[in-house]
Amino acid sequence: MLRVAVVGSGPSGVYTAQSLVQRDPEVLVDVLDRLPCPYGLVRYGVAPDHEKIKSLQHSLRAVFEHERVRFLGGVRVGADGVPVARLRGLYHAVVYCVGAASDRRLGVPGEELPGSWSATDFVSWYSAHPDAAGGGFVRDVRAAVVVGVGNVAVDVTRMLARDAAELSPTDMPQTALSALSASGVTEIHMVGRRGPSQARFTTKELRELGGLPDTEVVVDETDLASDPAYGDPSGLPAAQRRNVEVLRDWAAAPTRGARRRIRLRFFLRPVELLAVEGRVGAVRLERTAPDGRGGVLGTGRYEDVEAQLVLRSVGYRGVPVEGLPFDAESCTVPHVAGRVVRAGGIAPGEYVAGWIKRGPTGVIGTNRPCAKETATSLLEDAPVLARRTLPDDPLDSLRASGAEPVGWAGWLAIERAEAALGASLGRGVVKLPDWAALRAAAASADRSRAATAPPESTRAATAPTGTARAADQPS
Ligand SMILES: Cc1cc2nc3c(=O)[nH]c(=O)nc-3n(C[C@H](O)[C@H](O)[C@H](O)COP(=O)(O)OP(=O)(O)OC[C@H]3O[C@@H](n4cnc5c(N)ncnc54)[C@H](O)[C@@H]3O)c2cc1C
Ligand SMILES: NC(=O)c1ccc[n+]([C@@H]2O[C@H](COP(=O)([O-])OP(=O)(O)OC[C@H]3O[C@@H](n4cnc5c(N)ncnc54)[C@H](OP(=O)(O)O)[C@@H]3O)[C@@H](O)[C@H]2O)c1
Repeated sequence: MLRVAVVGSGPSGVYTAQSLVQRDPEVLVDVLDRLPCPYGLVRYGVAPDHEKIKSLQHSLRAVFEHERVRFLGGVRVGADGVPVARLRGLYHAVVYCVGAASDRRLGVPGEELPGSWSATDFVSWYSAHPDAAGGGFVRDVRAAVVVGVGNVAVDVTRMLARDAAELSPTDMPQTALSALSASGVTEIHMVGRRGPSQARFTTKELRELGGLPDTEVVVDETDLASDPAYGDPSGLPAAQRRNVEVLRDWAAAPTRGARRRIRLRFFLRPVELLAVEGRVGAVRLERTAPDGRGGVLGTGRYEDVEAQLVLRSVGYRGVPVEGLPFDAESCTVPHVAGRVVRAGGIAPGEYVAGWIKRGPTGVIGTNRPCAKETATSLLEDAPVLARRTLPDDPLDSLRASGAEPVGWAGWLAIERAEAALGASLGRGVVKLPDWAALRAAAASADRSRAATAPPESTRAATAPTGTARAADQPS
């Protein structure tokens, strides 16, 4: 059998595992994740009010239930975890699918002021990521500026505009629900440095902003007009044309005087975050103009927009895994068709897929062909990789490296604890908000397994044949 470790249980990790076991009956896959919970950004990024996309977890789950796939949560690889070289010694091949966990910076004065956050921080908070920074995002906030016009910017804008009745049925943690329900945010400015035809959001997501209760979208035609495609968008690719058409319709619509306003602004770039009483009070924006080559130039004209909250939604950023090559420019791992490149040559047995391979763009589905390409490279290399003799099941060695793997039973116990928490709050499933709660829930699987396990002497006799792997599952 070819033993493969996939590091990261987000879409690219799951699709890689799926592709490997579907295409080769002689492959065993361990999917490792530093979190005790699987699914990466599908669990900790996709907005809680997008239940349909979140339900993709059900199809990803089927991969973990495959008899040759094993989930090992709570195992960090790299610094403060299992060293890359050690992992490489335990498996015939390792595929890194670690995503892009950090954020890009604006690089303007005032970026570090209290009240200025990356969208990554805000998303992690309302998604109950156990590493999320504490709350306080919307406390005493009347007006917010969201920098960037991608789909994450649309997500965080929408979350700021939703009210309690819409958020309560989601799996959002109780603290975030309480804070957002009590929020007094009435003005949200979403600001793009280029024109409407260059915005990165998709039309479906854009349109959703127009359907929010008690909220109106305000678009000022003067913000759109310097886009060369604004007058006649017919020459644009369909996706951009539809965006421009939606924005034009909103610009032409009369204002309704709703309780909240989402102002979509273009050709404005932040040049400074201004302090009022030690925290963000306004954003200074410079008017830009097209440079004729798809970029923009500053015009030297400025406007200050009041904001007690700034969410910088200007893209995610890959972070290096200690011991793995990293291109600091693109924040990705150098590769050829998914094969990691070390010191100018292919590193046998090391692969990448997903955002750490391509950079932080693309929807969930984009990771499927990306993972398939990597799996193809790995399976082509398999005859050579399989020649190496490995130690027995890597679990003991992982534990010896300090890891305490949470297996599938542990994750199922977390799911049960989240259902129980939701029921106790009169809501549906509610996510556990921190490491302590996740670990306690996962450990409850150990206790219930110990209580129901047959005596040691009968266990070997009752284990069905061919399940050595399942029998060795951690909780
Ligand atoms: C806020 C947000 C919302 C999104 N919403 C949508 C949406 O609605 N629809 C859509 O189609 N796409 C959406 N996307 C895009 C989609 O989430 C990504 O395309 C996809 O998650 C990328 O998959 P990935 O596996 O490369 O990374 P990730 O999903 O980030 O998975 C990486 C995994 O690796 C683990 N990991 C990281 N480092 C280590 C380590 N050192 N050791 C062990 N494990 C590690 C992480 O814990 C994580 O589980 C969204 C993206 C963001 C940022
Ligand atoms: N519902 C969904 O399907 C969904 C939801 C969320 C995310 N996603 C996907 O996840 C991926 C990541 O999304 P994202 O929104 O983080 O990234 P993105 O699509 O790359 O958008 C980033 C935005 O930030 C702007 N920006 C970058 N640097 C800037 C700067 N210094 N100053 C001002 N603006 C700056 C960009 O403008 P420029 O274009 O001018 O650089 C762009 O508007 C995307 O592929 C997205 O589609 C999908």
